[in-house]
Amino acid sequence: MTEPAETLSDPFQVPALSACLKAGTHSIHESLDTRIMSLSVFSSRERYALFVRTQSRLHHAVARWFENARLQNWLPELAQRNRLWAVIEDCRDIGLTPEALSEDREVAAQVQILDIYSALGWLYVVEGSNLGAAFLLKQVKKLDLSETFGARHLAANEMGRGLHWRKFKNALDALELAGEQREAALKGAIAAFAFARQNVEQLLASPEN
Ligand code: HEM
Repeated sequence: MTEPAETLSDPFQVPALSACLKAGTHSIHESLDTRIMSLSVFSSRERYALFVRTQSRLHHAVARWFENARLQNWLPELAQRNRLWAVIEDCRDIGLTPEALSEDREVAAQVQILDIYSALGWLYVVEGSNLGAAFLLKQVKKLDLSETFGARHLAANEMGRGLHWRKFKNALDALELAGEQREAALKGAIAAFAFARQNVEQLLASPEN
């Protein structure tokens, strides 16, 4: 007797890229979430400002890839997905100094993303972070900040977070990449999480802050 179609698995089928990136970064994401929440990020505007600086570094590091013509062909509405402008406005809203902003730009400028496949991994992390942002936005409202003041970069896209994310994920999964290109994407995603973690440690866990 043959198995019903849905239980047949194709041994030659390559798992979707987004699933590989999710599985390959699951534990780093979980430990980053736990770390951020343990550092009282939402206990005051001063603490939240340090969190926004971590976001500023991450968004500055990846910003130029939202303008890459090949990636724009591959990924829907890529240029409009760039939330760097929102992060910069949030920095101004919460009173971060130009010195802090330029220090963050310098840290971000040291990041090397060498090719478009690694950039895919970085973009996956930055886009995906907008899903978790729904939870962060709820917390930040306790500090009297909102999607229009101080927490602009945590706002949902007008089509809704879920749909906006699914469009991005489906485009990632439609790419026909060679094994080493998928590996570069995974390494990029891991590097992006590591960079986010490094900034959380430097800014939020530093005894000076
Ligand atoms: C306290 C901080 C954070 C919390 C509570 C949080 C929580 C979440 C939640 C609830 C999701 C949705 C999971 C799902 O629907 O499957 C998510 C997705 C995601 N978050 Fe976070 N997150 C946080 C910080 C971050 C940061 C700082 C980054 C990036 C550096 C990040 C990157 C991602 C990515 C890439 C996804 C998409 C995972 C996927 O479905 O492929 N998150 N997060």
